[in-house]
Amino acid sequence: MNSKVLYSVPFVMLAGMFLIQTDFVSSQSFRARDPGVREDPPNAPPSAGGPINNLTLNEGKFFVAGKADFEEVEDVADGLGPRMNLNSCGACHSQPATGGTSPAENPQFRFAKAAYQLPAVYSFIRERGPVREARFVRNPDGTPDGGVHALFTITGRTGADGCTLEQPNFDREHRSNNVIFRIPTPVFGAGLIEQIPDTAILANQAANAAQKRDLGIRGRVNYAVPGRTISGQANNNGNDGTISRFGWKAQNQTLLLFSGEAYNVEMGITSELFQVERDETPSCQFARVPNDTQDFEAKDALTGTTAIQNFANFQRFLAPPTPSPNTPGGAQSIARGRGVFESTGCALCHTPTLRTGNSTVVALRNQPANLFSDLLVHDMGDGLADGISQGQAGPREFRTSPLWGLGQRIFFLHDGRTSDLVEAIQQHRSNGSEANEVARRFNDLRESQKQDLLNFLRSL
Ligand code: HEC
Ligand code: HEC
Repeated sequence: MNSKVLYSVPFVMLAGMFLIQTDFVSSQSFRARDPGVREDPPNAPPSAGGPINNLTLNEGKFFVAGKADFEEVEDVADGLGPRMNLNSCGACHSQPATGGTSPAENPQFRFAKAAYQLPAVYSFIRERGPVREARFVRNPDGTPDGGVHALFTITGRTGADGCTLEQPNFDREHRSNNVIFRIPTPVFGAGLIEQIPDTAILANQAANAAQKRDLGIRGRVNYAVPGRTISGQANNNGNDGTISRFGWKAQNQTLLLFSGEAYNVEMGITSELFQVERDETPSCQFARVPNDTQDFEAKDALTGTTAIQNFANFQRFLAPPTPSPNTPGGAQSIARGRGVFESTGCALCHTPTLRTGNSTVVALRNQPANLFSDLLVHDMGDGLADGISQGQAGPREFRTSPLWGLGQRIFFLHDGRTSDLVEAIQQHRSNGSEANEVARRFNDLRESQKQDLLNFLRSL
């Protein structure tokens, strides 16, 4: 036994006595707290970032090729810009591993500084803040805008000689409350989400009807329907009428579509799905012809797939996060916390499990997806409203956030307004929110029950 272990035994006993004391003797002074970002124990396999189990040999190759493309940093000659929010999928989706969300240090900060483009976005792109994408609520004439306005341009960057573009006046728009933010959502387990049949989503929507009615919980699907067009949105023709499910408002149908859109909107790179540059200024078009001879689309040497196919394959075969059985707070607290999650009513929106259907990929076929979401959009009230409509989802509606992987996330809610889980729960409460009654019940819990719930959430 080494001295570290000897030292830790009395400490654990003391800590245990302290917990018992606070629970029974001075419960008034004990306040439940977010235990903070969960670290993986040393020498244990990481909780997120690897491929899903049971991939075939070929699917494994697609995963590897996809991951490399997802992590690639693109430059002007690759077609980056003329306007963009960053230069790599993996830079925005990086915490705690490639495919995740915003890291502690915002990569956009350094990227902006390199081309002297920081001042225009300084107030909301901070070195230690979340990665952000900006949408404008209204056009100058007052009509709805809703589209993404790229933060940066290629002006001043290597290979962009002769291209002079102004950034939008973000400061002015921000001051007049015309800018809203979105932070990256994680894509771990996204292939399972993609394979959940519409019928499973609808059956879950209909379940527990009386309980939901009593608590004021409604929720509806974001159908991709014709005639509901939003300019700048990928699903605006809605030809097939099925349920879309990706993004903060469940606005996108599939990973391939989201990948095409992200390549175009976040990085300014066109593809076989999005052929048109978002900014067509002639002096700013520098993409070179791919220097391999394979095809008119640059194809992966290993798999013969294009960039957006690679992104989609990586995300499709990316395993869901593995929850911790005992961290933080110990297995018993986590188990009690899960009970509180159900009895308080959180699980009526954050559905613990939906099952995938008859996928042609064995690893994704008839599998449980422990996502903690009903994939419906809910009215979250004035406090969370962003004034933007996407597909059927209105200005106050958001998709129930999947909570898997929550334990290792740093920023919460669609705009990254908090890093504190307690605050994220409090934000569910505001004028008109479907979650008001459940959030009130949370506030009525004993502090020890709240702590169990928070430990459970950070174990995910
Ligand atoms: C500038 C940062 C940034 C970059 C670069 C970026 N993303 Fe994202 N990503 C976001 C944001 C922000 C969202 C949430 C968008 C929303 O719903 O409004 C998101 C959401 C997603 C989602 C939806 C996941 C879900 O379940 O909701 C997918 C899929 C995705 N991104 C894929 C990609 C791919 C593929 C690339 C590279 C082509 C990429 N992203 C590049 C910021 C970024
Ligand atoms: C009426 C449905 C509903 C209920 C009930 C509900 N939530 Fe949520 N939850 C949402 C929606 C929608 C969001 C996304 C809101 C946003 O980002 O603007 C969300 C976001 C969250 C987040 C932030 C996740 C992220 O991706 O940033 C956490 C944590 C969370 N909920 C926990 C809980 C807990 C704990 C309870 C129970 C006390 C609860 N929720 C009850 C719908 C609900």
